[in-house]
Amino acid sequence: MTQSTSFHVAVIMDGNGRWATRRGLPRAAGHRAGVEAVRRMVRAAPDLGITALTLYAFSSDNWSRPPAEVTALMRLFARYLHREVAELVAQSVRLSIIGRRDRLPAALVNAIVDADQATSGGTRLDLRIAVDYSARAAIRSGTLLPDVDLLIRTGGEQRLSDFLLWESAYAELWFTDTMWPDFTANELAGAVRDFRARDRRFGGLSTQAAV
Ligand code: IPE
Ligand code: IPE
Ligand code: MG
Repeated sequence: MTQSTSFHVAVIMDGNGRWATRRGLPRAAGHRAGVEAVRRMVRAAPDLGITALTLYAFSSDNWSRPPAEVTALMRLFARYLHREVAELVAQSVRLSIIGRRDRLPAALVNAIVDADQATSGGTRLDLRIAVDYSARAAIRSGTLLPDVDLLIRTGGEQRLSDFLLWESAYAELWFTDTMWPDFTANELAGAVRDFRARDRRFGGLSTQAAV
């Protein structure tokens, strides 16, 4: 099987709320636990050959959630950026936040700009986190990313929820019932192994069939 030099994995990180509710915890506790899973993914990704990782953290439709949950999430994003930058620089990760900025709290926008600058020299992994992101809006404004190779969704649903619609034209899809806070580096490795065994034909014939 041919292996291109770039390997773009995108993840719809779903199931934080249900993870918390099942434990009798507030939904915000699920989001906090979800941040731990993000840390695990970022640490594990480069050794799996992943060169770009795009994580769906907050969709433009998520503004319709209760204000308290939205506020908790915005605070969590800003805190993650502040706390994580040094570690990301040490791991040579370049972090950018994609999506609209004009509806985000000023403190978060500042944290985004700072994190962007601080990690701009990273070369091991292109980490993108989507906040106030809508794929339809991105297509309309022409702000497109590299093609997605492998798209993972946790939390049991099998839908795209307006994430990277254009870039996933030929993405391999991988769904798991695991709630995002329970997602491990091991499961990511399993998804990558599964991906590598697939026959991507892009409308042509598989290499074995081409005679
Ligand atoms: C994904 O988890 C994170 C965000 C959308 C912010 P959810 O919050 O959607 O968790 P569930 O789907 O309700 O369990
Ligand atoms: C998709 O999850 C958005 C993120 C994971 C950030 P949702 O929980 O918002 O998606 P739906 O509502 O189940 O489609
Ligand atoms: Mg959800």
